[in-house]
Amino acid sequence: MSSRKKIASSIICFLLLLLLLALAFSEPTRNLDGISARAPTLQQIRNRHGTREVVVDNGIISVSFSSPQGLITGIKYKGIDNVLNPHLRDRGYWDITWQGQNIGGLDRIEGTKFRIVTQTQEQVEISFSRTWEGGSHIPLNVDKRYIIRTNTSGIYTYGIFERLPEWPEVDMGLIRMAFKLNPDRFHYMVVADNRQREMPTDDDRDIHRGHAKPLAYKEAVELVHPHNLMFKNQVDDKYQYTCEIKDNKVHGWISTKSKVGFWIISPSGEYRSGGPIKQELTSHVGPTAITTFISGHYVGSDMETHYNAGEAWKKVLGPVFIYLNSDSSTTINPPVLLWNDAKRQSEKEVGAWPYDFVASSDFLTRRERGIVTGRLLVNDRFLKPGRSAYVGLAPPGEAGSWQTNTKGYQFWTTTNDTGYFKIENVRPGTYNLYGWVPGFIGDFRYQNLVTVGAGSTISLDRVVYEPPRNGPTLWEIGVPDRTAREYFIPEPYKDTMNPLYLNNTDKFRQYGLWQRYTELYPDHDLVYTIGSSNYSQDWFYAHVTRKIGSTYVPTTWQIVFHLPYTNWRGSYTLQLALASAARATLQVRINNEYSMPLFSTGNIGRDNAIARHGIHGIYRLYSINVPGRLLRTGTNTIYLRQAKAIGPFEGLMYDYIRLEEPSSH
Ligand SMILES: *[C@@H]1O[C@H](CO)[C@@H](O)[C@H](O)[C@H]1NC(C)=O
Ligand SMILES: *[C@@H]1O[C@H](CO)[C@@H](O)[C@H](O)[C@H]1NC(C)=O
Ligand SMILES: *[C@@H]1O[C@H](CO)[C@@H](O)[C@H](O)[C@H]1NC(C)=O
Ligand SMILES: *[C@@H]1O[C@H](CO)[C@@H](O)[C@H](O)[C@H]1NC(C)=O
Repeated sequence: MSSRKKIASSIICFLLLLLLLALAFSEPTRNLDGISARAPTLQQIRNRHGTREVVVDNGIISVSFSSPQGLITGIKYKGIDNVLNPHLRDRGYWDITWQGQNIGGLDRIEGTKFRIVTQTQEQVEISFSRTWEGGSHIPLNVDKRYIIRTNTSGIYTYGIFERLPEWPEVDMGLIRMAFKLNPDRFHYMVVADNRQREMPTDDDRDIHRGHAKPLAYKEAVELVHPHNLMFKNQVDDKYQYTCEIKDNKVHGWISTKSKVGFWIISPSGEYRSGGPIKQELTSHVGPTAITTFISGHYVGSDMETHYNAGEAWKKVLGPVFIYLNSDSSTTINPPVLLWNDAKRQSEKEVGAWPYDFVASSDFLTRRERGIVTGRLLVNDRFLKPGRSAYVGLAPPGEAGSWQTNTKGYQFWTTTNDTGYFKIENVRPGTYNLYGWVPGFIGDFRYQNLVTVGAGSTISLDRVVYEPPRNGPTLWEIGVPDRTAREYFIPEPYKDTMNPLYLNNTDKFRQYGLWQRYTELYPDHDLVYTIGSSNYSQDWFYAHVTRKIGSTYVPTTWQIVFHLPYTNWRGSYTLQLALASAARATLQVRINNEYSMPLFSTGNIGRDNAIARHGIHGIYRLYSINVPGRLLRTGTNTIYLRQAKAIGPFEGLMYDYIRLEEPSSH
């Protein structure tokens, strides 16, 4: 560098410094707990590596973005220089996995254009966008938005995703946002009141250095030499921390040392996929916190993620709120305080939904949305209110199709004790009204399409769901609630347990429970006798394969029941509801284990709930006609054979089984 250039650059540096000082002290309007709430400022700088960054600072947090890529490179908060992991390039980002005809992969959706959308005293909204112009990227236009408001300890972010009909066909399996936090600070993770703990580190998972032992699949490891002995002989698997969308409002991490919390708050489920009980990942070892908009988790390849040539798509994903909090008191138990504050904040965000400060006209305000109300009644031989039922609007389709829908918006609520429901903030459009009622089988779909207009209220009055039933109940196993929760869930193994779930109602989240079947039933399969067996003790939670040496074999469960009288001309019905299926084929035989099956599901399911410690995947109901001539007066046996066995994970979970007499008319 010449000396003239040196002087020039020193002068520029000095001027920049002056500017920075001026900005730092500009209009501190008020003081809250020593925090100056002031208008957010925006600077475009070159960082010390010479790359361009945008820095937005509201006096509470300062957030840096790579520009024009729009990855979050830094979050400065409460004296912490970077809440995110400074050692990783990708620390705060959106990504998508996709597959085109000959290309695909993981795309961090780096923007090519930076734009300031709004900058006022109240807030700064910025955009990092990328327009598809052919080539090897995913055929998709993406506009990533970030909003930083005054007097707000966090960042709002949303994405506008769009594909044009003339673009090539593509599969988009996973769209999410991920944050990799500073590993020196964040060790305590919170997913729910009863799901929070001190976590192992990423390094503890290292199998190459012998810190951990691999288990049945790569996400699960046994911690054999963790940095902290308290984790020894525990399992780590991010799928132990998944959460149903309806409950997935806030999760994150706490630095007990710095007394700082980092939270992802998801105020709405409208932009997610697969309905209210779809399970998604939350936070996990890293320390990592993610929010998922579209995924096949606990559904598998049944999820509709494929876009054909000619198919257009546009969806606003988010906004979600990245919230930071801190505790300046000298309390003994900061996790409780920070977690309680995070929950309070998430309630505030839910209350403010749909946000009125979002600049994009693709995100609709409350006034631009409509309301649908009604009363759900269930007619299962007699009419009663459908209480605590799930009712939702989702794109038109078959009953239950919302379980696999990723492309549209979904708006769900639950009914009150007398069956009334009110679905608010619905985007204008044409939907089906779907639902299900705990305690009853099947999927509900209201007969007419529902068209919602801006500012409209549609009153559907009485909507009546008639669950499948062909006759009175002879016997039943389980409760119709779309899960296998009520069945027998064995104890975990001592060397792969997670202490979090020892005393918890979520015993099913332990690793390796599927292996217990072979131990409990080494030679003979499960036999369940109606009248003397008890489903919470005698019905294993999953119909899995049996391990013999190093191979796996199909298993056949029996339901034994007594009929005092048989209507051999009549038609009985076996209502068989599944809570999960993974590469399974279920065959049903009556009174002859070796006959042709009366019924077979065919090859079904990829939801992987057994391996992922879910207690359900997606729901399927089969109403199977059982001719009376196949039954006997006296003892009868139904054989349920899960015929696929390659490894430990082909299998099923039952939700509920019922045998119905022939109808009397
Ligand atoms: C700033 O935010 C805090 C917490 O949300 C709130 O209590 C306070 O009233 C706000 N102050 C102003 C001046 O808006
Ligand atoms: C249910 O909601 C309806 C309509 O808002 C209301 O009239 C009724 O009192 C509510 N019932 C209960 C038990 O909350
Ligand atoms: C589980 O409960 C037992 C008895 O109530 C208690 O001693 C133990 O500490 C609990 N374990 C965990 C991990 O909470
Ligand atoms: C079945 O077992 C559960 C759990 O052990 C028990 O609470 C329940 O009372 C039993 N039910 C019957 C009918 O015996």
